[in-house]
Amino acid sequence: MERPEIDLRSASVARIFDYYLGGAHNFAVDRELADAAARLMPELPRMTQLHRGFLARALNHLVDQGVTQFLDLGSGLPTVGGSAEVARRLDPSSRVVHVDIDPAVIAHGKHLLDSADTTMVLGDMTEPDAVLDHPETRRLLDLDRPVGLLMVGVLDFVGDDVDLAKVMARYRERIAPGSHVVLTHYAGAGDEDYFRTRQLYRDHTIDFHPRSGPEVTELLAGYELAEPGVVDVSMWRPEAVEDLDGEPERSAVHVAVGRRP
Ligand SMILES: C[S@@+](CC[C@H](N)C(=O)[O-])C[C@H]1O[C@@H](n2cnc3c(N)ncnc32)[C@H](O)[C@@H]1O
Repeated sequence: MERPEIDLRSASVARIFDYYLGGAHNFAVDRELADAAARLMPELPRMTQLHRGFLARALNHLVDQGVTQFLDLGSGLPTVGGSAEVARRLDPSSRVVHVDIDPAVIAHGKHLLDSADTTMVLGDMTEPDAVLDHPETRRLLDLDRPVGLLMVGVLDFVGDDVDLAKVMARYRERIAPGSHVVLTHYAGAGDEDYFRTRQLYRDHTIDFHPRSGPEVTELLAGYELAEPGVVDVSMWRPEAVEDLDGEPERSAVHVAVGRRP
């Protein structure tokens, strides 16, 4: 069996996400950074769980709309509660292309996939044409039919050097009417612990770029927003009391689902 090329000296956001979710696909370097960050911002694991809860509710909505093919941009590792598992539980014919910029995530992820209807693609989600024209994307997804573009926990890592409005517009142009985009974005917190956490991540070459609710709304220009629009993650169609319970004061994760008319 091919061995994944994983650099055990560098922390990975995908594996930190896995650690906060209680998963087993993380290493000491990830856990050390994750624990240090959570000492400054104890709400981080809970925020990660809120992302996963929203992903499941949004996928439920998309499958209800007849969407069964998904392009998961910045997918991280395809583990429990991830897009492929949830989508295929909702509709076993679902197909999922996972795209990630981190070669370690791709190598590791390939070993976790358990279906011919899912694949891992090394790519930069800020390059829509390269992602959409990738042979693996074309092999699994029919772009003449509606597709679900998942941007969950990824735009946070795209800096202002990228014209994100242009990226979003290009995806919108290229996907079929009836396609949907599922988006989350961290809004940031203005306090000292937040800035120390951001610096801690930067020291590990990971940077995140918070955006405000109006900025997130602008990114969705040209999409029809599903009710209730751009809202805090806990407010998007909460299904269970737990979704609202223990909501961290600083969760500040904006989410939305948009439909391409
Ligand atoms: C928080 S993690 C995983 C989030 C995942 N979508 C989930 O919900 O579990 C974010 C992932 O985005 C990836 N990423 C960051 N910038 C990216 C880019 N420009 N294109 C593709 N992937 C990117 C990282 O490598 C990482 O695996």
